[in-house]
Amino acid sequence: MCKFKTIVQETLIQYLQLDQDVLEELLEKPQNPEHGHLSLPCFAWAKTLKKAPNLIAQEFCEKLKKHNLSSYIDSVNALGPYLNFKQNQILLGQELLQTIINEGDLFAKKSLDAPPTVVLEFSSPNIAKPLSIGHLRTTNIGACLARVFKHQGWNVIRINHLGDWGTQFGKVMLAFRLWGNAEDLEKHPIDTLYKLYVKFHEEEKKDPSLADQAREWFAKLEQNDETAKELWQWFKDISLKELNTIYQELGVEFDHVWGESFYVDMLDELIVDLKQKNLLKDSQDAKIVDLKDYKLGVSVIQKKDESSLYMTRDLAAAQYRYQQFHFDEMLYVVGNPQKLHFQQLFKVLELLGCDFVDRCHHVAYGHVDFGHEKMSTRKGNIVLLKEVIAQAKDRALSIIEEKNATLNNKQAIANAVGLGAVLFADLNAKLARDVKFTWDEILNFEGETGPYLQYGLVRAKSVLEKYEGQWSDKIKIDSIETVEERSLLQSLNDYPQILGKTLKEKEPFYLSHYALELVKQFNRFYAKCRVLDAPEHQKYFRLCLVKSLTIVLESSLKLLGVPRVEKM
Ligand code: ARG
Repeated sequence: MCKFKTIVQETLIQYLQLDQDVLEELLEKPQNPEHGHLSLPCFAWAKTLKKAPNLIAQEFCEKLKKHNLSSYIDSVNALGPYLNFKQNQILLGQELLQTIINEGDLFAKKSLDAPPTVVLEFSSPNIAKPLSIGHLRTTNIGACLARVFKHQGWNVIRINHLGDWGTQFGKVMLAFRLWGNAEDLEKHPIDTLYKLYVKFHEEEKKDPSLADQAREWFAKLEQNDETAKELWQWFKDISLKELNTIYQELGVEFDHVWGESFYVDMLDELIVDLKQKNLLKDSQDAKIVDLKDYKLGVSVIQKKDESSLYMTRDLAAAQYRYQQFHFDEMLYVVGNPQKLHFQQLFKVLELLGCDFVDRCHHVAYGHVDFGHEKMSTRKGNIVLLKEVIAQAKDRALSIIEEKNATLNNKQAIANAVGLGAVLFADLNAKLARDVKFTWDEILNFEGETGPYLQYGLVRAKSVLEKYEGQWSDKIKIDSIETVEERSLLQSLNDYPQILGKTLKEKEPFYLSHYALELVKQFNRFYAKCRVLDAPEHQKYFRLCLVKSLTIVLESSLKLLGVPRVEKM
């Protein structure tokens, strides 16, 4: 925790005998930084003290002023119902910059007794379908959260719950037998499988019997029929190989690629358990768990031919993962449309007596609208992720050609800028919101974009590169004269809290927004304050401020997945 907060807490406990837990809860950052750096709202004591909160704030303030307070506290003031504390900026500056420069971005790591474990499930595409721009969100959000949890000292287990089981495989297998050829498949696995999938749906309109044949193929797969299994394994292997190239490009890794098929052998036991607990009911031609009492409809668990469903495999997956990892949290990064699915999943787990269900969360997100085209894998008018990324890179290259034609390594830089633009745009909105972006918005070097951040870091680093003096191991500040320096210092000081909030709320937007603010603060500072040619008593402090900024900014970009650029 921030040292100033600890000191203020200790002061309030010592001189006003306030309760530590209450303070922990109440102490906040004032909206207006002019009012101070920490504020204690005094409403909580109005009842017990039988006084108006304004009066309480004043009395608290007077009492404190009678004591010799820590030199970290510059002033205490009562403002309305708030007791406000100002921090000594010089001490803050010295200690904070020293810590950042010594410890790097680990200064922002919360200390934990034992590392808790989080299972993070994300990406999870259905194989045999190409990654659409819609998959960008789960992949990107999940990877970002994984990095934040890891940075904060958690033990992180990343799982890709591939959609590699279900009736759609019956369709693709049948389509391949009817219209496919192996050569195309080996050359362009996912595209070919996808075309077959689309063709199946077109042909099915003319010949409805295809649906039954597809079901039979899937039934064969479930019964371990050799031909079906071989075909399926082949589709899966080549799809995965292709998926991996995209993951590599996005810088995303998994600890386990456990697709839905991984849990198929565990389903019998699950069904027995559901029966024993009297949860399974017959309904028309399926077995269900009735959740109407909870206003969650019914959850279908088994079809009449006893084949399993998406839900069945999710139930087994949750139980297996808990057995394996005894996680403290499990997060499913999956779009808003599956909200009901996860509500049902969690309810059935609860009814099964799985206590760990309290630790499971659906991290839901809105949809991406790109170029205003709706995406549907069935019809085939899909916006492909790899095409979006390729286009981002091309466009970044033309911007760079225009702005700085003599730059070396233009293509590599454009790649990092294009990718950074797409990945950042995707994280720079509250998760629940639907995102719409245009190329001009996300590639604007002066806008709230990935390239803006990359450029900010390049600028700050170039200042440091020009410094030829020594870096000493003691930072001594005489005075901090400008509001720009103070604001930048405060922003750096906020980093640990921002990471804590991002983790707690599972919301990368806090981090993306923070990174933008940080660069804006830096730009204001750099416009106002001289650094390399500053007077000697200011120069070293300002340099350390810039150095600390590069450490924090670089760390935020890394956690957000925005690639580093050396020159721009
Ligand atoms: N494969 C699914 C889809 O593309 C997403 C899987 C989400 N995860 C889960 N455990 N159900 O829609």
